[in-house]
Amino acid sequence: MIKIINSLKKEIENFSDSSTEKIEAFRLKYISKKSVINDLFLQFKDMSSEDKRNVGQPLNKLKTLAKDKLIQLSQLNHKNKNSSHPDKDLFLPPQNDTIGSVHPLRIVRNKIIKIFRDIGFSIEDGPEIENDWYNFTALNFPKNHPAREMQDTFFISKNPDKVLRTHTSNVQIRLMEKESPPMRVIIPGRVYRNETVSSKSHCFFHQVEGLYIDKKVSFKNLKETLFYFAKEMFGEDTKVRFRPSYFPFTEPSAEMDISWKNGWLEILGSGLVDPNVLKNCKIDPEEYSGFAFGMGIERIAMIKYGIDDLRLFSENDKRFLNQFRGAQ
Ligand code: PHE
Repeated sequence: MIKIINSLKKEIENFSDSSTEKIEAFRLKYISKKSVINDLFLQFKDMSSEDKRNVGQPLNKLKTLAKDKLIQLSQLNHKNKNSSHPDKDLFLPPQNDTIGSVHPLRIVRNKIIKIFRDIGFSIEDGPEIENDWYNFTALNFPKNHPAREMQDTFFISKNPDKVLRTHTSNVQIRLMEKESPPMRVIIPGRVYRNETVSSKSHCFFHQVEGLYIDKKVSFKNLKETLFYFAKEMFGEDTKVRFRPSYFPFTEPSAEMDISWKNGWLEILGSGLVDPNVLKNCKIDPEEYSGFAFGMGIERIAMIKYGIDDLRLFSENDKRFLNQFRGAQ
């Protein structure tokens, strides 16, 4: 067998044709399951232990040689294909134009986190596939109530109790069930809604939820916190508007708009946590109160960078993404 190994070794070393067909022929002959080398390994199994000792090492080396050669030939093949573009060599390390940049949604998310961290909020996380209790029921959405239709939901067909969360408010409940007040957290994450995709809405987007529970938390605290946020995010001169609104899990509720392009753009919903929600989480509403808010990261990025089509964030178009290189 040593003789065969040696002659195959020579054959492989001298193989130099790197055309695509010849490489495939090489692979079939020396590497594939039906290759001569594989055949030698099959014979090897039945050899005496004396013979095995002599043949083992050269045979393994032959296998490695064939594999290395295949890689070498493939590299040559690539190079030849690209030789009409001499400055394009796929085996060079990344050039400047291939280095990525931080995604605009990530830049904005980090900024939101920083703003709230500075005033004592910590970060929490929760599941995107959620059950009815956390996404709806514990948040005071009565069963079969039209309020559930405020948020068009993706249900998991095999288990209608499971939904793709429609908001990050599910994590409020998970947290309040687990921990006791005081708590001051923000919860960034992805959410899903069964909506027609357009420049203004998408079937998935990102939110940052905020929750502050303590003794004597008031609506004034909520407004101060959100005004502070708006100024930190968009600058001192930012115009902000508070509008009464409705959410099943807050009472009173309000939405906040930011002045944008001669009009207003809604960036968040908020309110004082409804006493029923506190009760659902075994927190005494006589003793504690709190505020909550949920803001859309895409909305904020659109205002900040003057983007007018939401779809751009998820299309991975390099012409769009490259514009955020070095952005803050
Ligand atoms: N969950 C609400 C939404 O997605 C936003 C919100 C969060 C409102 C917290 C009030 C309090 O629209």
